[in-house]
Amino acid sequence: MPLKFNISTPNLAKLIKLHLGPEILKNNNAWEILESPLSGRGIFAVRDIDAGEVILSDIALTTGPTSTSHQHICCVCYKTLEDIDRDIQCKNGCSLPLCELCSNGSSHSTECELFRRWKPKEPTQIIPQLLRFVSIVRCLFLGDTQRKLLLALQANNDKYYANELQKVAQCFANFPSDREMLEYFQYSIAAFNTNAFEGSCDRQQMENRGRVRALFPLASLLNHQCTPNADHYFDSPETLVIIATRPISKGEEIVTSYTKLLWSTLMRKMFLKMTKHFECCCPRCVDPSENGTYLSALFCRQQGCKGIMIPVQTKTLQPDWRCLTCESVFPHSKMARYQDFALNTINNRINACSISDMITFINDMCPRFCPPSNYVLVEAKLNVIWRMSRATTEVFTEEQLKCKDRYRAELLELLEKLGAGECTLKKLITEERL
Ligand SMILES: C[S@@+](CC[C@H](N)C(=O)[O-])C[C@H]1O[C@@H](n2cnc3c(N)ncnc32)[C@H](O)[C@@H]1O
Ligand SMILES: [Zn+2]
Ligand SMILES: [Zn+2]
Ligand SMILES: [Zn+2]
Ligand SMILES: [Zn+2]
Repeated sequence: MPLKFNISTPNLAKLIKLHLGPEILKNNNAWEILESPLSGRGIFAVRDIDAGEVILSDIALTTGPTSTSHQHICCVCYKTLEDIDRDIQCKNGCSLPLCELCSNGSSHSTECELFRRWKPKEPTQIIPQLLRFVSIVRCLFLGDTQRKLLLALQANNDKYYANELQKVAQCFANFPSDREMLEYFQYSIAAFNTNAFEGSCDRQQMENRGRVRALFPLASLLNHQCTPNADHYFDSPETLVIIATRPISKGEEIVTSYTKLLWSTLMRKMFLKMTKHFECCCPRCVDPSENGTYLSALFCRQQGCKGIMIPVQTKTLQPDWRCLTCESVFPHSKMARYQDFALNTINNRINACSISDMITFINDMCPRFCPPSNYVLVEAKLNVIWRMSRATTEVFTEEQLKCKDRYRAELLELLEKLGAGECTLKKLITEERL
């Protein structure tokens, strides 16, 4: 069923240009907004674009902290609050974390007043749901153009989003019951969950800033493909930059990936269905070999066979699996249990062991129960590279350093097979800054 929006595509384009303003638009004109063959509206190149070129920059409608509770950041400037002895919560009693500088400024005063009026039940605690709700509350303070833009976005209907609001309401003694306001919150939650970007707003790790979630009106129109031609980064909490990962021809749709690049097809399919409500039919999704990467592969369950099994059908979340060697077929239920076992076994180690134990586990134990191409093992190798590039005190043996180089080469080969181009992940692997 075609999607219905409350605004025509040309009028939406006009509003976005009004929001960005002439200064930002001056060097920001390689794109146009058109109806997309993928779904609804999309962004298209108006000229040829080179790999690595900035395609567009966008300015947020609203931003807010993420729910990540283990790392407290100021809910206004997103700087990490490191001094555990100092009281990091707003001294006016709204319960939100705030840095010294922002507590003396005026940006926080209106939301602070609202939170205090609603009376947090546990004012001395920093509650993850309330952190996440800050970006939604800020939708109340939008100007006219920005509010129109918010209402023009796609907002998927999901029963879990009602839950999200209910959980927030339960954290306050005096949460509003006004229907119009609740509907506006509900809509804003759906618009955020359909379109928002989350990420570190401190790319160079110079400013000690944490993760942010933000809604960008133009970037919200980017549709998804599993091997996209564009990637994004936050230039500041309010500015998102979209860059080309490979050459893009005039007229081509600009697409990004809503999932992790190295996930298996089934994993991406499940994630997209659950969180974004659609089934991707891109070339990578319909190729059972997954561009020859076999990221889904599991060992054959037939006694004595050492072959690998892959999902046979690409259009279902419950495919049969077939062995490439003996051609046995097993139902998805059996293979899903096996995939969960591999995932849990490897992920439990990732979080619990030292880097050298992890390398030994990957090299000696994993090959017994998990094919090397399986995405869980691939992600474990990525994790090792990441930890080794950050470890400052640990000294590594020649052998361990060689392993890291081998993992890097394997991952780069994988990205090449996927056609991922000059994506952020490739830069991070080659620069070793994940
Ligand atoms: C961030 S929005 C993208 C912009 C959207 N097309 C619009 O008109 O506002 C995300 C939604 O777009 C749709 N979508 C994005 N990529 C898609 C694809 N490859 N196939 C089908 N639907 C897609 C899904 O409905 C998804 O929930
Ligand atoms: Zn601050
Ligand atoms: Zn406050
Ligand atoms: Zn796909
Ligand atoms: Zn077999």
